Amino acid sequence: MSSYNSEYAVGVNNITKVFRRLSSHTTLKRAFIDAVTFNKNKQVKMLKFTALKDVSFNIKKGETFGIIGPNGAGKSTLLKILCGIMRPTSGKVAINGSLSALLELGTGFHPELTGRENILINGLILGLSKKEIESKYDEIIEFSGIKDFIDEPIKTYSSGMAVRLSFSVAVNVNPDILILDEVLAVGDAEFQAKSKKRIEEYINSGKTVLLVSHDKTAILNYCSEALLLYKGTVLTRGKTEDVVGRYEEIEKVK
Ligand SMILES: Nc1ncnc2c1ncn2[C@@H]1O[C@H](COP(=O)(O)OP(=O)(O)O)[C@@H](O)[C@H]1O
Ligand SMILES: [Mg+2]
Repeated sequence: MSSYNSEYAVGVNNITKVFRRLSSHTTLKRAFIDAVTFNKNKQVKMLKFTALKDVSFNIKKGETFGIIGPNGAGKSTLLKILCGIMRPTSGKVAINGSLSALLELGTGFHPELTGRENILINGLILGLSKKEIESKYDEIIEFSGIKDFIDEPIKTYSSGMAVRLSFSVAVNVNPDILILDEVLAVGDAEFQAKSKKRIEEYINSGKTVLLVSHDKTAILNYCSEALLLYKGTVLTRGKTEDVVGRYEEIEKVK
């Protein structure tokens, strides 16, 4: 990749993501009939929505980088592409190192399986061996604070418990790059303090952290550099204070 070298942990090059969905006037039945009858005068209308438009940026190794933007800006879509959960319509992503992500609530857990089984699956997805995961079970379970429920199916967990477990997996697998999507405000005060401490350890140990939020406080607290995503485009990138300043201007106009 031309604009990418080992100085960078993450390289995002001209990413565009177009979602297609049926228009609200189109019923599934209509779409099905048109499809099976090869109807030339299709009544089915597909709406296109461009969630990301030509997004490019790099994150240096060891940097704590923030992505800020209002709801619907495309932040979570971008993260899903970085993690390989979703393919971009065009553009390229380069990741240099192991990556672990705590995405929005519910992504990545299987409700029918137990907490312990989900730890295993998540660990395997993150590229760890079964042995490596087993050696981390105790630490992950201890950190999550839900030891008594670890052999119960996830569907019996409260959303708070599920988030605590996924946070615990994400930080304890010790990745080179940690991605956190709108997660710093989860759990009770005690869990938040514990999470903050763990993230700070991460940052101080020279790992790369990508923090994504619509909330200015977390981004200002942790990140030296940030970018502002707005309606799928990068409006500005630079020092966090400047980027947050621009975000505040946009909020006023809305
Ligand atoms: N799977 C999908 N299909 C269609 N539209 C989607 C899909 N995922 C997200 N979108 C749309 O893309 C836009 C960006 O969403 P998202 O990335 O979740 O924003 P953010 O995380 O910044 O709030 C929203 O308008 C959302 O409705
Ligand atoms: Mg989001």
